[in-house]
Amino acid sequence: MALIAHPSCLLALLVAGLAQGIRGSLMAQDLGPQPLELKEAFKLFQIQFNRSYLTPEEHARRLDIFAHNLAQAQRLQEEDFGTAEFGVTPFSDLTEEEFGQLYGHRRAAGGVPGMGRVVGSEAPEESVPHTCDWRKVAGAISSIRNQGNCRCCWAMAAAGNIEALWGINFLEFVNVSVQELLDCGRCGDGCHGGYVWEAFSTVLNNSGVASERDYPFQANFRPHRCHAKMYNKVAWIQDFIFLPDNEQRIAQYLATYGPITVTINMKYLKLYQKGVIKARPTTCDPQFVDHSALLVGFGSDKSEGMGAETVSSQSRHPRSTPYWILKNSWGAQWGEEGYFRLHRGSNTCGITKYPVTARVQKPDVKPQFSCPP
Ligand SMILES: *[C@@H]1O[C@H](CO)[C@@H](O)[C@H](O)[C@H]1NC(C)=O
Ligand SMILES: *[C@@H]1O[C@H](CO)[C@@H](O)[C@H](O)[C@H]1NC(C)=O
Ligand SMILES: *[C@@H]1O[C@H](CO)[C@@H](O)[C@H](O)[C@H]1NC(C)=O
Repeated sequence: MALIAHPSCLLALLVAGLAQGIRGSLMAQDLGPQPLELKEAFKLFQIQFNRSYLTPEEHARRLDIFAHNLAQAQRLQEEDFGTAEFGVTPFSDLTEEEFGQLYGHRRAAGGVPGMGRVVGSEAPEESVPHTCDWRKVAGAISSIRNQGNCRCCWAMAAAGNIEALWGINFLEFVNVSVQELLDCGRCGDGCHGGYVWEAFSTVLNNSGVASERDYPFQANFRPHRCHAKMYNKVAWIQDFIFLPDNEQRIAQYLATYGPITVTINMKYLKLYQKGVIKARPTTCDPQFVDHSALLVGFGSDKSEGMGAETVSSQSRHPRSTPYWILKNSWGAQWGEEGYFRLHRGSNTCGITKYPVTARVQKPDVKPQFSCPP
């Protein structure tokens, strides 16, 4: 970092130029002799994200992958018809396969608990505010986490949900233990993937969840024993529910009660930098969801959509782009300081497939009445 004043600015400039240069070429090998700019951009990437490679061969391989990912970012840029920008990210030296291995989770198919979807609110006609951003409630949204080498987006999304609801309901701000959710689940192989609802089941089964400080996160695949009994609990849930697959209802629930978890197709995220991703079902299959994140708000962007080459002149007028705000678990160096935005109103990347939330409850709150004998 100390070598160059603002590596990320330089990088953005260089990469913009590069993307033009390699537009349309599918494989890194097609590039012929590697342009100096590519090597320069790769060097900056290494500095920005602290990457080093053990051998010259490995360095060459990663450079190839990097070039391939730049070309892929360019393709995503052409496909997107929101305001998103794609390019160099902390994952630019990983192949699709490696990225999927590290960050994807098991494809959700058939493993959903048999429970009905509840309506978002007792008063469905109630209007939804134009914007909502739970990040503005100081302390409600915990810091951005980083999964590292652990496929535990599902546990991190669940933890964020519980923390936010705990803070909003009781004005007590806690960091809950993701490691407990990984160690104490039914399968005991938390880093190999799971579902948000399994994390909530674990909290129910453990009668609460410990704090992150007591029971800290260890990003690796080694099976851990469940140490839930060793630590005090700091948050409890009464149950969890599935919301309707309707974005209006989801917005209403979010605005009324707080952040919820969703599980989406992460195809556009690896090379995402900023802006609102708007994809078609044909380019981002809403049935294939493989990544969980925390929905923390929504709003509308007044700026004109990009990808003007593919839209009709009619839709080129400035228009507002409604979006969701999501908290990711890939560190704060990724995306919009760890967050990203998806278009709202078109089931972008399957966002309505599994909207799930816990409902928090203090264990000492007793009903006012009991059944008379
Ligand atoms: C950079 O990575 C090396 C290992 O490759 C590590 O020892 C070092 O602490 C890292 N530096 C920062 C600033 O993260
Ligand atoms: C939660 O964790 C963050 C990051 O480690 C820390 O800055 C914050 O103080 C913690 N909050 C509480 C309530 O412990
Ligand atoms: C619930 O917790 C107990 C230990 O307290 C464990 O043996 C059991 O497997 C857990 N059940 C589920 C469904 O997670």
